[in-house]
Amino acid sequence: MRPERGLGRQPRKPARDLVTLGDRSRRAGAVPGSAAAGPVQAATGYVQAPAPQAGALGEGTELVKAVVCTRYGPPEVLQLQNVAKPVPGSKQVCIRVMATAVTSSDCYIKGLNLPFAYRMAARLALGLTAPRRRILGMVLAGQVESAGPEVTAFAEGDQVFGLDRHRFGAYAEYACWPEGGVLAPLPAGLTYAEAAAVPYGGLLALHYLKRANIRRGQRVVIYGASGAVGTSAVQLARHFGADVTGPRRCGTPARR
Ligand SMILES: NC(=O)c1ccc[n+]([C@@H]2O[C@H](COP(=O)([O-])OP(=O)(O)OC[C@H]3O[C@@H](n4cnc5c(N)ncnc54)[C@H](OP(=O)(O)O)[C@@H]3O)[C@@H](O)[C@H]2O)c1
Repeated sequence: MRPERGLGRQPRKPARDLVTLGDRSRRAGAVPGSAAAGPVQAATGYVQAPAPQAGALGEGTELVKAVVCTRYGPPEVLQLQNVAKPVPGSKQVCIRVMATAVTSSDCYIKGLNLPFAYRMAARLALGLTAPRRRILGMVLAGQVESAGPEVTAFAEGDQVFGLDRHRFGAYAEYACWPEGGVLAPLPAGLTYAEAAAVPYGGLLALHYLKRANIRRGQRVVIYGASGAVGTSAVQLARHFGADVTGPRRCGTPARR
């Protein structure tokens, strides 16, 4: 599936759980749980760990919070850790992540919940015992904190939202994504949390509805109409003029 740019404004249900991150950053050298580590670390027991995608820790390295996938498995494999703050490449922007969303794809990757035949191929592609890109998260909404020297589309302070199906990294306080990816200015009137809920289901639904060439007057059935993809699909199909039915899990179909 190829995601498309140019998202419309559709108020919709969050992909799954919305995660909002704070704005505290730390410096390497503080001992977790100690007074020097600060009240947040002391209260939560964050552990210091090298950032798998953000370079080695050194004296003076700025630390930020991230949810790191330590191996494939149940939700407990996700651990809140301190990692080195990522540095943008020449064509990347460093985004202060204000909201992200836990998507069904994240869950597949984290748990490797795939049919046996696909699991080995997935391990080869994603990492043998754990995702190579340890910080998951494909969607974000936030503010550009800094930009690489060759970036022209965005500048410091810009509010953005977007999706990156290959790089991940949105389960963190900061993520560096290419300016040429699926990244767009935050639509006026949308909160960060609302914007973070749009790209995943919205782009999937738009892609498949376009492939199906949905037109005015057609009757469309959306299974899973309450999910991330489904809520967008219902709204987009209505936008295209279709008569939409969303069957409920139990009971009678709901029609819009
Ligand atoms: N091909 C791709 O690239 C791609 C990418 C992403 C996702 N997907 C697939 O697209 C589907 C939807 O993804 P999503 O992100 O929208 O997931 P989601 O947010 O978890 O939504 C799942 C939807 O399916 C419904 N559902 C779950 N179990 C059901 C059952 N036994 N009978 C009837 N309805 C059931 C849920 O209804 P309730 O609200 O009642 O639970 C919900 O509406 C998933 O199967 C996912 O694997 C495909």
